[in-house]
Amino acid sequence: MNVKLSNQSLEHIEAQLTLEFVSAKTLTSHPLYPLLSQGGFNATHESLCPLHERAVLVCGIEEDATGETYRSAMATAIKAAMKYGYTSLKCAQYTTDYFHALIEGVVLGSYRFEAYKSETNPSLLGEVIFSYKNHDKTANDTDALDAILHQTLIIANATNFVRDLVNQTPHDMTPQVMADAANRLALKNHLECTILGANDLKEEKMNAMLAVGRASTNPPRLIHLAYKPKNPKKVITLVGKGLTYDSGGLSLKGATSMVTMKMDKAGGCAVMGMIKAVSELKLPIEVHAFVGAVENMIGGNAYKPDDVLVAKNGKTIEVRNTDAEGRLVLADVLGYAQENVKADYIFDYATLTGACMVALGAYTTGVMGHNEALKQTWLRAGENSGEYCGNLPFNRQLKKLIKSELADVCNVSSKPYGGAITAALFLDNFIDENMKEKWVHFDIAGSAYTESAWDVHTYGGTGAGVRMTLKWLMEQCQ
Ligand code: BES
Ligand code: ZN
Ligand code: ZN
Repeated sequence: MNVKLSNQSLEHIEAQLTLEFVSAKTLTSHPLYPLLSQGGFNATHESLCPLHERAVLVCGIEEDATGETYRSAMATAIKAAMKYGYTSLKCAQYTTDYFHALIEGVVLGSYRFEAYKSETNPSLLGEVIFSYKNHDKTANDTDALDAILHQTLIIANATNFVRDLVNQTPHDMTPQVMADAANRLALKNHLECTILGANDLKEEKMNAMLAVGRASTNPPRLIHLAYKPKNPKKVITLVGKGLTYDSGGLSLKGATSMVTMKMDKAGGCAVMGMIKAVSELKLPIEVHAFVGAVENMIGGNAYKPDDVLVAKNGKTIEVRNTDAEGRLVLADVLGYAQENVKADYIFDYATLTGACMVALGAYTTGVMGHNEALKQTWLRAGENSGEYCGNLPFNRQLKKLIKSELADVCNVSSKPYGGAITAALFLDNFIDENMKEKWVHFDIAGSAYTESAWDVHTYGGTGAGVRMTLKWLMEQCQ
């Protein structure tokens, strides 16, 4: 989709369809009110009234509209415009504060993934033109709008890049194919890229990650992408869980919970999308993205409940459930990342626990860590970026639940409640003392994937984490 800005006022822009947002309050004074009311249109939020003979699409918007409501309404409108078969659409500004939300509505709302359809029905809509002017014809700061368009397109396209990776099947997107994708991104965006194979992981003593991948015919890969601008203001490490498939291992998942587990690589895909956006925005921050790409399968050589694993940092782990594999992979990747990069902050993203969805719902990312003030900056970034985030607090009672009689720590909790937090407290064992206050863990189990459309998301990967992280990183640059 080509999204641009035009100097012309709306009526002079050449496009097949005009999109207008109208609230119930402004409906009666709208010049097309007689026509609109004929069809019973009353401008309820996200209701649509296409007037094809006038080449106008009117979308209802709630009275005190926010970025969130404009974003979601634009996504609804753009899907309709695609269905009607128009090739171009134009729209005015509805206060510059919401311009980014409108662009996100266009780029994220028009996303389709049709790689596995034998017959596709490509949309004809190729161009969306925004006027610099407001719908009431008042003028705006054009430089500011140009900058918003540039930034928002990069971030929204990086989100769609993540969705494309997540949506590919476990057969197509193996750890090696993820590494190939990282290499291609590195070549295109001038990033450094290092890939470690099974033998390298052995040398690095990453036995927890190796154990998880051992029964798979698709060997594990550790991906390290680096963006290194001159004189960076900060150094940031991003770590992603990249389970290209999670069958549960010998603690095998049930048939219905196994479906969708191709999305267990979403954290890894997200950090790839984040470094893509950072490099295209040319942010003055050094960013390292690490992905533990592994497949959790069953077989004669599979790792077992009862095994004890020695992680890269020397800690021993009692395995009591092979389906709690993400934390084992992250344990080693966090260790490797901290050994290789001295960062100001370390953030990890993982579809880690079903418990996170129980705690917060399936739309919200769980935010965990030791540093309350740092977590607050993330909760704000989430809110300002259009992603839902929720704080899940640590406490010493929950910490006791992952004690092991046999080894240093157990990979699952002894009690059924608080599973998202006990998983994070497990990860805490692999965060170096000097990084404790500089680490945040994001559980994207619910937010990374959806089987029913909501907000700007259609079926499949959502690209969770990208928008909020770019918001947070850009704030660090100010
Ligand atoms: N990948 C899953 C978590 C998950 C579940 C993500 C559903 C998205 C949707 C993870 O590896 C897992 O299986 N976790 C277990 C942990 C349990 C064994 C302690 C879970 O959540 O049931
Ligand atoms: Zn699992
Ligand atoms: Zn998993």
